[in-house]
Amino acid sequence: MKKLILLLGIILLAAGCASPEPEKITGNIITGKSDVLIVFYSWSPLGNTRSAALEYQRQLNADLVEIEPDEDYPVRQNAVYDRVGREMKSGTLPGIRPLPVKLEKYAVIIVGTPVWFSDCAAPVKTFLVRNDLSGKTVIPFCTSGGGNPGKTFDTVASLCPKSKVVQGLAIVGREAKQSEKEISGHLKTAGIIK
Ligand SMILES: Cc1cc2nc3c(=O)[nH]c(=O)nc-3n(C[C@H](O)[C@H](O)[C@H](O)COP(=O)(O)O)c2cc1C
Repeated sequence: MKKLILLLGIILLAAGCASPEPEKITGNIITGKSDVLIVFYSWSPLGNTRSAALEYQRQLNADLVEIEPDEDYPVRQNAVYDRVGREMKSGTLPGIRPLPVKLEKYAVIIVGTPVWFSDCAAPVKTFLVRNDLSGKTVIPFCTSGGGNPGKTFDTVASLCPKSKVVQGLAIVGREAKQSEKEISGHLKTAGIIK
């Protein structure tokens, strides 16, 4: 289902913009033409973080991959709050499926996460804990329900201590589909585009 939503988002974006289409789309990955990788997780059916990730992809024609938990988080809000609350209390992180990319290839990794209880979403923490991003530039962004990102970006920085982590961009979830300017500004500030 998520792959279908991702694919639909890609098709809509490709239809609505003049940028070159991604080179190759397979499952949860888009292969572009730059040495930047976008890694993101998105939970809600609205796919706010996915929309923003696709906009980064469109602007850079970069590779993009979606983090998928081993066991999907429940769709119902109460149930997801319960599971996330339990995991936070016990300090456990979810398993995630192996990503079909070789991280060594990339000098820059853009990391996208929804804000979960003023912090980075658990599957993104798992990605950062499991992978060594030493020496890479990490560009975080998040989408939220309108609240402050809290410690989201501090968490990202603490989980990749040997990376150059640039200032993150916080996007209000309901505005994610209109965040073109904010994202280009973020990429300019990070020195990725002029
Ligand atoms: C478990 C959980 C906790 C959340 N905590 C916050 C929060 O602390 N602050 C906030 O503004 N939004 C919070 N939200 C809302 C999401 O951050 C927001 O809807 C986000 O844009 C969803 O992104 P997605 O569509 O990619 O999943 C939370 C959502 C969930 C499921």
